Amino acid sequence: KQLGVGRATGKIILMGEHSVVYGEPAIAFPFQKTAVTATITPAEQLSLACSYYTGALAQAPQTLKSIQEVIAQTLFVLKQEHATFSIQIDSTIPAERGMGSSAAVAAAIVRGLFDYFDTPLSHTELLDLVATAEKIAHGNPSGIDAAATSGNSPLFFIKGQSIEAFEMKLENAYLIVADTGMKGQTREAVGDVAQLYKQDPKVADSIAHLGLLSRKAKVAILENCVKELGKLMNAAQLELATLTVSNERLDQLIQVANDQQALGAKLTGGGRGGCLIALTDQLETADKIATALEEAGAVATWIQSLEEND
Ligand code: PMV
Repeated sequence: KQLGVGRATGKIILMGEHSVVYGEPAIAFPFQKTAVTATITPAEQLSLACSYYTGALAQAPQTLKSIQEVIAQTLFVLKQEHATFSIQIDSTIPAERGMGSSAAVAAAIVRGLFDYFDTPLSHTELLDLVATAEKIAHGNPSGIDAAATSGNSPLFFIKGQSIEAFEMKLENAYLIVADTGMKGQTREAVGDVAQLYKQDPKVADSIAHLGLLSRKAKVAILENCVKELGKLMNAAQLELATLTVSNERLDQLIQVANDQQALGAKLTGGGRGGCLIALTDQLETADKIATALEEAGAVATWIQSLEEND
């Protein structure tokens, strides 16, 4: 075949980041406004072209180790270890911002390679291969990023269990996503929470509470209670701050959103930078929140209707 193409989207974790690593439920959805495409074409050597690096895959810098690994594992599964080709990555997902870009890039590559070698790919096989890359990028991934970036619908996700897709039934609900402009530090944050968990028994309570908040959020979504969802988001942010995964920049921008009458606001993803999300039931307020966040230094904002399911 002369061409293989694979695509995956960004993702937003609405509730349950970090606690999901400990087996608590989380809610996430594919964020269609950002996406990555991997394009595979024949070449004389195995090579990569992305915004960080262009050249032979074998010489790629250490930061691209997870990509090298997912390619090697996928070629092993496809029994194509000696094939040569070029992979071009085009992405609108901001990297290291809690939007799952590492999982999405891996998912796009796996899909692209299976397409290139004309082989059908099951969803489980895809998630397993993405997990190999995520283990390198994240250390101890829950798998939520892989599931949300490669799926089509919102998920109620529990680590190691079958993934439950569900419909967002909210009317008049708008989520403002804002990029702080600071790199998130998922790996460090997940590692620090694990340390705290060992040292301080109260951390287990925070994690259990975050799980409860995710369960309540699912009910709020299914019952179309936007205001209740906002309150649950605020409660989650307090717990995430206790877990040390928020930071000054996030706290400041969350305050800006709250000052503009957001119904709730919290960090999303690994934290310590990255993105925050804010909720409102009016499009006009959503515009105001987005503008205020940009004036306060957010480098990008998106407004996502939670009715659209996309
Ligand atoms: O920062 P992101 O987009 O990779 O999100 C990570 C979500 C965590 O719950 C913090 C980690 C995980 O693997 O679930």
